[in-house]
Amino acid sequence: MKVFDLDMIKAAYARMPERVEAAKKLLGRPMTLAEKILYSHLWDNLGGKPFERGTDYVDFAPDRVAMQDATAQMALLQFMQAQREKVAVPSTVHCDHLIQAKVGATEDLKIANESNKEVYDFLSSVSNKYGLGFWKPGAGIIHQVVLENYAFPGGMMIGTDSHTPNAGGLGMIAIGVGGADACDVMAGLPWELKMPKLIGVKLTGSLKGWASAKDVILEVAGRLTVKGGTGAIVEYFGTGADKLSATGKGTICNMGAEIGATTSVFGFDKKIAKYLTATGRRNVAIAAGRIKEYLRPDQECIDNPEAYYDQVIEINLSKLEPRINGPFTPDLAWPLSKFAAAVKKNNWPAKLDVGLIGSCTNSSYEDMTRAASIANQAAEKHIKAKAEYTITPGSELVRFTAERDGLLATFDKIGGVVLANACGPCIGQWARHGAEKGERNSIITSFNRNFAKRADGNPNTHAFVASPEIVTAFAIAGDLTFNPAKDTLTNEKGEQVRLDPPLGIELPPLGFDVLDAGYQKPARSGKNVKVKVSPKSDRLQLLAPFTKWEGTDLKGLKLLIKAKGKCTTDHISMAGPWLKFRGHLDNISNNLLIGAVNFANEATNKVKNQLTGEYGEVPAVQRAYKAAGIGSIVVGDENYGEGSSREHAAMEPRHLGVRAILVKSFARIHETNLKKQGMLALTFANPADYDKIKEDDTLDIVGLTTFAPGKSLKVVANHIDGSKDEIVVNHTYNDAQIGWFKAGAALNIIAEQAGK
Ligand code: F3S
Repeated sequence: MKVFDLDMIKAAYARMPERVEAAKKLLGRPMTLAEKILYSHLWDNLGGKPFERGTDYVDFAPDRVAMQDATAQMALLQFMQAQREKVAVPSTVHCDHLIQAKVGATEDLKIANESNKEVYDFLSSVSNKYGLGFWKPGAGIIHQVVLENYAFPGGMMIGTDSHTPNAGGLGMIAIGVGGADACDVMAGLPWELKMPKLIGVKLTGSLKGWASAKDVILEVAGRLTVKGGTGAIVEYFGTGADKLSATGKGTICNMGAEIGATTSVFGFDKKIAKYLTATGRRNVAIAAGRIKEYLRPDQECIDNPEAYYDQVIEINLSKLEPRINGPFTPDLAWPLSKFAAAVKKNNWPAKLDVGLIGSCTNSSYEDMTRAASIANQAAEKHIKAKAEYTITPGSELVRFTAERDGLLATFDKIGGVVLANACGPCIGQWARHGAEKGERNSIITSFNRNFAKRADGNPNTHAFVASPEIVTAFAIAGDLTFNPAKDTLTNEKGEQVRLDPPLGIELPPLGFDVLDAGYQKPARSGKNVKVKVSPKSDRLQLLAPFTKWEGTDLKGLKLLIKAKGKCTTDHISMAGPWLKFRGHLDNISNNLLIGAVNFANEATNKVKNQLTGEYGEVPAVQRAYKAAGIGSIVVGDENYGEGSSREHAAMEPRHLGVRAILVKSFARIHETNLKKQGMLALTFANPADYDKIKEDDTLDIVGLTTFAPGKSLKVVANHIDGSKDEIVVNHTYNDAQIGWFKAGAALNIIAEQAGK
């Protein structure tokens, strides 16, 4: 089945050499791969001077848009508001986030099809009408399906999911965005991004034994931390890079999101060509091969990276030891040899309850074979897996092929349960038995994220992240103090046995196969297709435009909450049970900031209502302010809004009447999302001023009538004792974004233009 657009790819390749040469002339130096792709996707012609990384905002023309079902609802509701006939660039919808893992694939999928029917009907009909490819529930996880069908070297894609960079494994610049950005690009508008900085990762040597591609990114996360990649593209190169499989490269790029990177990318090589060919895209591999010098960094950049990248990291794959990262944050990297001691020292629950493999991060054929080789040994050596063990295939293509080749039967031998080809536990869609008791416990996954509560909603679940083969070995041992590289296990006969290092097969020797990939092609003309949205629905709601800025400074704002410490998009707009309201703004707003810790009382979802002096739940208190016609402000700590791309985290406070978010620093996607929704996203010029904000403060934002790029604003904190603090706050709005603020939202401007 061919679903990709070869003509679009060929047209992109026809433009690329000329554009890259012109950019090279302008820059007057060799170019990195990221620069080649970015400069060949400029919306406007090249100007007279190079863009400054980390400073200049640039308009791009992405080749594709991909959306998952949770984020697609709002993106497409917004797209409908823009009043266009068809999507302007090839776009797809993937039904992966709404399927809850409970029993196993067949049963769970059946329940999901029933319980999400109105959402699937909406997405299927809206895709059909506006020319989008629609991947049905059970077809697979967005990033795996994109890798198998759409990603191509040198391309540029945006996706409404933070792990969109997975496609960087095939040499594509793929960036996670909010639904509002997707809506812009589908409506035929440019997509704006601050020219990213570049981090070069030079890989030498080759992986040995238990080490895998996953360990590369676990190591990078350990070195750079969750903030280290902010505003940067991570570009991998070197002799080691060319030895990694294309899907291994995908895993590395996928988890670049955990260091806050804009995206990650690898250069085109034989491994990528091989994968393209194996997935039915030999003609793409051939076309890429013809312009391969434009699909890799120039040799000078590889030889002397310090001269061309803003930061350079070197990793010798031959010396790389497997890593286990966590708990509660993906950048706490423990080498396997030191992990057992860390578990004991920190008193983390050593007994492992569940090992979970798969997800968009690690569900390639190679991953499955490496994990299966460990499971097989356990079966052959008469060891019973002590922990529960689940497998989440990334797509029906991989699942079907893995079943045909006996891999799923091998997992079955150690009690493995195959879940649906969907996100499941990775996004909190896990009806985990007993999680509600909140007991301390440990799980280990081959996923990418491990924030508290993410997998099962239990804040006491210590989640660790590792490669599928390490997860499998731990699940067999049922003990986090086990080191599979050196320790033995006692088998059913009482013998001491050892697990040998995993053996993987990069691509299926018999080729990939699938009976029904789960794809729906859009109607040739959508004119007579009706989009299905019930006015009575509690899951879908057509949008009303946000109101314009009133043209004055914002005075008398009440402090809604000063969030303490980590405040991810999960804390701002929790996933799990709330996912079902993704298409209904008013209903989902009832989860606003319920996971954020209030600095004043260290509690979650308990803030002071300044109108009554009583404490209440955050959404209820905010609705009280809204009803009284009073605006409010949310204050936050560092990297506010890290995590996912969900624009609900920006739309909800806007919908409920919050006027500004003032923090020490923002995660990139969230900051952009706030701007799109017409919200003020501000940062303390002096982060220590965070301490000056008190629980009973009423705040004024001053300087909005002369709001301009690069010009600070002032926040006056009026304290309850009559004293006040004047605080300088910064912002990163450019002229266009200030226009969004004034119009009430970016979408208001798009609809206005369409109506003209
Ligand atoms: Fe889904 Fe988890 Fe990936 S939520 S898209 S499997 S990060």
